Amino acid sequence: MSANDDAGFMVPYTFLGLEHLATAVVLLDRDFCVRYVNPSAENLFKFSSKHVVGIPLPQAFLDAEILSRAVDFVQTHHACFTEHEITLPDSSGHALSVSCTVTPVEAGDVGLIMEFHQIDKQIKIAREERMLLQQQSNRELLRNLAHEIKNPLGGLRGAAQLLEHELPRANLREYTQVIIKEADRLQSLMERLLTPHQLPQLQQVNIHEVLERVRSLTLAETPQGIVIRRDYDLSLPDLLADPEQLIQAVLNIVRNAVQAMHGKGEIILHTRIARQVTLVKKRYRLAIMAQIIDNGPGIPEAISERIFYPLVSGREGGSGMGLTLAQTLINQHQGTIECESRPGRTCFTLLLPIVH
Ligand SMILES: Nc1ncnc2c1ncn2[C@@H]1O[C@H](COP(=O)(O)OP(=O)(O)OP(=O)(O)O)[C@@H](O)[C@H]1O
Ligand SMILES: [Mg+2]
Repeated sequence: MSANDDAGFMVPYTFLGLEHLATAVVLLDRDFCVRYVNPSAENLFKFSSKHVVGIPLPQAFLDAEILSRAVDFVQTHHACFTEHEITLPDSSGHALSVSCTVTPVEAGDVGLIMEFHQIDKQIKIAREERMLLQQQSNRELLRNLAHEIKNPLGGLRGAAQLLEHELPRANLREYTQVIIKEADRLQSLMERLLTPHQLPQLQQVNIHEVLERVRSLTLAETPQGIVIRRDYDLSLPDLLADPEQLIQAVLNIVRNAVQAMHGKGEIILHTRIARQVTLVKKRYRLAIMAQIIDNGPGIPEAISERIFYPLVSGREGGSGMGLTLAQTLINQHQGTIECESRPGRTCFTLLLPIVH
């Protein structure tokens, strides 16, 4: 007997319980061929159940030598065995730090259970938690500071304007104009520091409506040399989100890409479904993944660890608030933003949970 999962793939009823586990599980049959992989394993190793089921273990993984050794050990000793902190490549060659437990079983045609725990993921989650806390307190501090600066700034500007009317010589106005202009600049920076506290106005929204709006806005304001390509999975379900806030977040990321490429280059808007993901400490069965990928020069190394912090900018005239704001808006939707960058490829990945 079997059941249809979301992708239309048949999952035997005996394995249904494994579908919802956060742990990556691979079952081998008695001939050491892959019998089943759960969605967490598909996510971890970036392979598809359809492609690996029925295939011998050494061929299912890009480098399965350590796993084959572990399996041999279990076969010889008829005992459970754990390999701590091994490095395995996923299907695209990206190295993963995992621990792997192999357990012999006698259950129908299944002979071995392999469980994988990603180690760097745990370290990453702890680091993300720390960063989130730090960012929240930074933002709170900045908001308070912005409030304190904003009020006297209004008075300062008003006084400069009054003074300007009283000045006996026109050429002295140059000085009051400097005060007024600088006060305006500071004022707009303070506004940007203060905005992210509106709560999202939630409604059903499709991620592609958001991306298409950003695409047309960007194309309207960018030079001809920028191409924006789409690679959409149009079957994605709607999100419960504030469309204006999502547009603002994506627009900030896309604008950065345009600015970094100095008027010439390609941006790809990419969407896919993500299954069994953990976002801000909560686990979701489904999430939407949207990536903004550009082929520009990459993020300057000196600031790459801090780009989401307020006031960090690598660009002349930049206020360093675009990504801070984008992150706040996405976090308000229980989502996350991550970034990977090297010269020639910068990729911002948004993950937004689907909650019904
Ligand atoms: N796609 C990208 N390619 C290269 N560098 C980037 C990219 N995205 C962001 N950056 C770098 O990260 C910095 C921070 O971006 P952020 O949007 O927070 O601030 P900003 O663009 O400098 O100013 P603001 O958005 O407030 O006008 C940028 O100044 C830029 O140096
Ligand atoms: Mg920006």
